[in-house]
Amino acid sequence: MRLTEKVHHILTNHLQEGNHAIDATAGNGYDTLFLAKQVGSSGKVTAIDIQDCAIRSTRERLDSAGLIDRVRLVREDHAIALRKLIASNQGKVAAITFNLGYLPGSDKSIQTRVESTEQALATSIQLLSPGGYLCVTAYRGHSGGAVEAETVEAFMRKSQIEGNAVDCYEPDSTNSPPILWVLNKN
Ligand SMILES: C[S@@+](CC[C@H](N)C(=O)[O-])C[C@H]1O[C@@H](n2cnc3c(N)ncnc32)[C@H](O)[C@@H]1O
Repeated sequence: MRLTEKVHHILTNHLQEGNHAIDATAGNGYDTLFLAKQVGSSGKVTAIDIQDCAIRSTRERLDSAGLIDRVRLVREDHAIALRKLIASNQGKVAAITFNLGYLPGSDKSIQTRVESTEQALATSIQLLSPGGYLCVTAYRGHSGGAVEAETVEAFMRKSQIEGNAVDCYEPDSTNSPPILWVLNKN
């Protein structure tokens, strides 16, 4: 099973009609579309990306599926966008997904960065409801990716010590495979 499918599998068993879910790296909108289906017509998804082209692509995908009404698109650094959500959403979000790195087929210099990823993950914990899931897929093969993945690992290890359940998934490969961290908030 690919890591994206693993994320969807875990969240299919968790998300319910009426939930609020966040896609912190909307990209081409595949995860946003999945989340929008899971939360149903009374739920909502906040989809964040720093690039116009990603927001456009996500809008088109959700429009085509007839689900755009349940999605709020935010073009901003996720560290900033998530912090703005704290005032009205602290402890209320059922799931948050991060698929780090760059948008395939796009400008590779626009990629997630350690500092904002770290801040965005810390804010995500505050946004999650008890029992909520934080899923973070990190890629170690591109420049900066390995350091970012190490930062995610340190964050997850610390969160585990603080009482959250944390699992890690890695495909069998010796060639810098991606890695998925799944945190279930206590
Ligand atoms: C691997 S892609 C995400 C793929 C997406 N999950 C999908 O289903 O198509 C990573 C995305 O993160 C976005 N990104 C990079 N830095 C960001 C930041 N600081 N805040 C929000 N999005 C960022 C990129 O623009 C890119 O679209």
